[in-house]
Amino acid sequence: MKFDFKNFNPDSLNDYEQKALDAFDTLTKKVGKGNDFLGWIDAPYNYDKEEFEKIKRCAKKIQSDSKYLVSIGIGGSYLGIKAVDSAMQPYFNFNPKTKLIYAGNQISGEYMNELLEFLKDKDYSINVISKSGTTTEPSIAFRFLREAIEEKYGKEEASKRIYATTDKEKGALKTLADKEGYETFVVPDDIGGRFSVISAVGLLPLAVAGFDIDEFMNGFKEAHDEFLKRDFKENPAIRYAATRNLLYNQGKKMEIFVSYEPKLKYISEWLKQLFAESQGKDGIGIFPLSVNNTTDLHSVGQMIQEGERNIFETVIDVENPIKDIEVKEDSENLDGLNFLSGKKMSYINKKAMEGTTIAHVDGGVLNFKVTLDRINEKEIAKLFYFFEVAVSVDGYMLGINPFDQPGVEKYKTQMYKLLGKPGY
Ligand code: PA5
Repeated sequence: MKFDFKNFNPDSLNDYEQKALDAFDTLTKKVGKGNDFLGWIDAPYNYDKEEFEKIKRCAKKIQSDSKYLVSIGIGGSYLGIKAVDSAMQPYFNFNPKTKLIYAGNQISGEYMNELLEFLKDKDYSINVISKSGTTTEPSIAFRFLREAIEEKYGKEEASKRIYATTDKEKGALKTLADKEGYETFVVPDDIGGRFSVISAVGLLPLAVAGFDIDEFMNGFKEAHDEFLKRDFKENPAIRYAATRNLLYNQGKKMEIFVSYEPKLKYISEWLKQLFAESQGKDGIGIFPLSVNNTTDLHSVGQMIQEGERNIFETVIDVENPIKDIEVKEDSENLDGLNFLSGKKMSYINKKAMEGTTIAHVDGGVLNFKVTLDRINEKEIAKLFYFFEVAVSVDGYMLGINPFDQPGVEKYKTQMYKLLGKPGY
């Protein structure tokens, strides 16, 4: 992974060095707000090794008897899985042993109806994921899917095809799992939802989809060693946090995560959740957005180039594409594209990125770049951990608790009132 600050570093960053290091110390010494949710910091080494092996065993079993795994979850119990899954699968010719399908990440009756219809003649298992075990969206989805799988396989076989990932001892899902004898996996108490892709939350479905979870953990280990160095110049996570903080104080209220590879769309979705839930509170915080270029250069690109100057960009680039293709010479050249003949599409895409960066920086939009060597388990894990450290350091610089999300409760209260839930 490489980090490019050259279009991003404002002059006065030095004033932020001490503040950033203090925030870093608060994080690593575990003395700040929300410090009971810092299990993710040491999780790359300090994880449950027995459960890790159980995950691999269960993944093999699911691969042997299921063409699909329905992964039920929302927020942190969905986005990390979806981000890795989308980034790592081919666009077409998509034929893993077991494919992940998602549910419980919305409340669409249309989606549920079609999903139940689709699954009727397919072999499948279910992984229901909820740390609290009480979240409405996955609970509703699980009610439908549980009924369907029990109807299809009978109660006894169905209970062997349902895997519950939840709190180790409390919550409605844990109670149900114990009663029905489902295989269970633990979301550690000290790891919040949006940081939980490193736990069984991410590991089980990703192993089932055929990804190398050992490599995934190796990526987290490397990132732990690299991004926990207490060095402002050498640790890009601290530097990035400080830069965001300075920009926010200069009126840059929105950050746009940019990618030039459509597969990375859900990496941006994961980033949006990480930053929004961690920092958008107490009336402050940078609003996270995302674009997929060059598609979005033909829509919101105009706004980025010439709209209000309250934005900056963080580009997620990939150095080495897995597959590429070269533009050929055309004897007629009616489209006038022969100047590109012999050039790879990845090269053209790279020039689009470089050109866009120049134009945006010229237009007053600062631009930071994170480059993955290639899209693989290790690099994605490193990317996750880099941003987790950065969001935490920056959160402490802002004076907020980066590890809670009290605002998420507000819509639920109003929804429950409208639905007539007892007690609301
Ligand atoms: O980051 C978070 O904590 C949230 O986004 C949760 O992951 C989300 O609300 C789902 O919660 P749960 O896993 O308890 O169902």
